[in-house]
Amino acid sequence: MSGTLLVTGGAGFIGANFVLTVRERALAPVVNLDALTYAGNLESLAALAADDAHTFVKGGIGDRALVARLLREHRPRAVVNFAAESHVDRSIHAPAVFIETNINGTFALLETVLAYWKELPSVEQKSFRFLHISTDEVYGSLRREDPPFTERTAYAPNSPYAASKASADHLVRACHETYGLPTLTTNCSNNYGPWQFPEKLIPLVICNAREGKPLPIYGDGKQIRDWLYVVDHCEALLTVLEEGRAGENYNIGGRAERTNISLIKTLCNILDEMLPDSPHRPHGNLITHVDDRPGHDRRYAVDNGKIKSQLGWKPREKLVTGLHKTVRWYLDHQEWIDHVRSGAYRDWLDLNYAKREEVAR
Ligand code: NAD
Ligand code: TYD
Repeated sequence: MSGTLLVTGGAGFIGANFVLTVRERALAPVVNLDALTYAGNLESLAALAADDAHTFVKGGIGDRALVARLLREHRPRAVVNFAAESHVDRSIHAPAVFIETNINGTFALLETVLAYWKELPSVEQKSFRFLHISTDEVYGSLRREDPPFTERTAYAPNSPYAASKASADHLVRACHETYGLPTLTTNCSNNYGPWQFPEKLIPLVICNAREGKPLPIYGDGKQIRDWLYVVDHCEALLTVLEEGRAGENYNIGGRAERTNISLIKTLCNILDEMLPDSPHRPHGNLITHVDDRPGHDRRYAVDNGKIKSQLGWKPREKLVTGLHKTVRWYLDHQEWIDHVRSGAYRDWLDLNYAKREEVAR
């Protein structure tokens, strides 16, 4: 890989894992544009504090002047768009910010990138890529007997989050079809692994169980998700970036379907093993059924056939080993969790990162 990547949302869960992977392997310089909402955490990028090839910029994808300047100054060979509001439950309580970031923000980013791309020499236009990271939730809900989502499954989003991501995907598609911008869109299943904000199911369960707090299961807990280790997702994105055909969509999934209840029981067993002296063993006793999420999708499952056969990617991590690694990681990163929970991670910018931040001119 050569040439700078402009990564948006690179201080969030998947974006941080991606940026860390790219920089650990010295694959490319990274300009990391992140608005640092509640979900953005520069502590996740602390390992890059002395890395001159990682430039952090605090700002939003909807800030056209800022994005245009970054494009002009850094001349990236690709934009990798992770920036989004990402939590379904938050989208139910307060959808407006999802419309603002995921739809209007993506639209502004596309227009700004398009203007930059149009001015590139034709050889650079050809190799340029706009990689848009999306979700399997745009496809809606499956019944038990349905085949997994393929790239041809019709969009049927059910939550404000999923609807906003679906809109963004359509705008990306239109930008390719109408103006020729070389876009790539990926639709991925539920990710898990290091640096995930503990509002999402897996880190929430690990953090609560450790403290002997209830483990809330929505409804009957028989909803099914298809889990993918975040490192595998990052590998898939690198593969799509290098090998993907402009204008195409690629589904990415773990082929690891579990009901929420069975997943949580597995996590509890791992915690029982890893914390033999915990007063909260057996952790399974902490499972508590609570009211269901409105509009709760029953099942997601992703067919990996296209990316596997066309680009040669497949998930490497087995769910059980990935869960072991993830539990170990959260147990070993109590300080990161404490800072997230207390809000102290927000001080990190001032404490440790101010000197690395570019200031919008
Ligand atoms: P996250 O919520 O952990 O991180 C989102 C990041 O985007 C944060 O750092 C936040 O500060 C930043 N951000 C928000 N609004 C911004 C704006 N206007 N401009 C710039 N930055 C902004 O999310 P995540 O779980 O890392 O998800 C990343 C992407 O992957 C999202 O687009 C999401 O829809 C998609 N996705 C997530 C999953 C999953 O399981 N987490 C699965 C499939 C797809
Ligand atoms: P989540 O991690 O929020 O991801 P998504 O909604 O994007 O799939 O939730 C994963 C599953 O776990 C989903 O079916 C909702 C369920 N869930 C609970 O049962 N309890 C919880 O406290 C949370 C956060 C989620």
